[in-house]
Amino acid sequence: MNPLIIANWKMNLRPNQAADLALDMKKILKKEVNKDIVICPSFTALDSVSNVIKKTNISLGAQNVFWKDSGAFTGEESIKNLKEFGCEYVIVGHSDRRRYFYETNEMINKKISACLDGGMTPVLCIGENMEERREGKAEHVLWSQLTECLKNIDLMPSEQIVIAYEPVWAISTSGTGQVMEVSDVQRSFNLVYQNLIDLWPLTIVNNNVRILYGGSVDGQISAELSNIDKIKGFLVGGASLDSQEFAKIIKNIQ
Ligand code: PGA
Repeated sequence: MNPLIIANWKMNLRPNQAADLALDMKKILKKEVNKDIVICPSFTALDSVSNVIKKTNISLGAQNVFWKDSGAFTGEESIKNLKEFGCEYVIVGHSDRRRYFYETNEMINKKISACLDGGMTPVLCIGENMEERREGKAEHVLWSQLTECLKNIDLMPSEQIVIAYEPVWAISTSGTGQVMEVSDVQRSFNLVYQNLIDLWPLTIVNNNVRILYGGSVDGQISAELSNIDKIKGFLVGGASLDSQEFAKIIKNIQ
């Protein structure tokens, strides 16, 4: 599996601004091969970005999805709708969604199941907040998020899933903006990997699951973080709004 670098533009950029940034990235990143690069703009910018990155080495992702195909679910979007724009990936369970929209592990589990049934690759975000880390609960939080979000999910050899480990307190806009010590990130990665092999066969975990790190990743720190065992890429927020910085991050992961 190629390394995967995902830009999460969150609720920034109007559709025309998003298209401009995508165009810039398309030019800067055109020589990047053997790396999967994904842009996740907001819903309203999916169309404009999709037109820019069509037939390039950049794929499209969404920041959220609902688990039903259609119906009275005001404000939500279905997998089918997102696929019409060319989305191949969708972020689920981002800490912003958990925090402001009260998404639970149970809801996230339904989203993951719907994604896999609908042929979309889910990017499951997990991570402890500062209080949980201080109280020594980080390991338990990761374990419960993984087991509850992935409950009854049997990954088929043709399916992929991405786990983005993002300690909430390390996210630039919602936390302290501090980057975690590399040794602590490694410890969390070991734990996530161990939990995954408790859930699924080893070959599935090694061939169909990519584990990413997210939280204040930039061009500099990504070089250090890319040495982590089992890391397969990054989920990038703030730094992905700057094409040069995003390109540096991409260069740093092998
Ligand atoms: P950040 O955001 O890179 O700005 O910390 C990461 C994220 O929220 O996914």
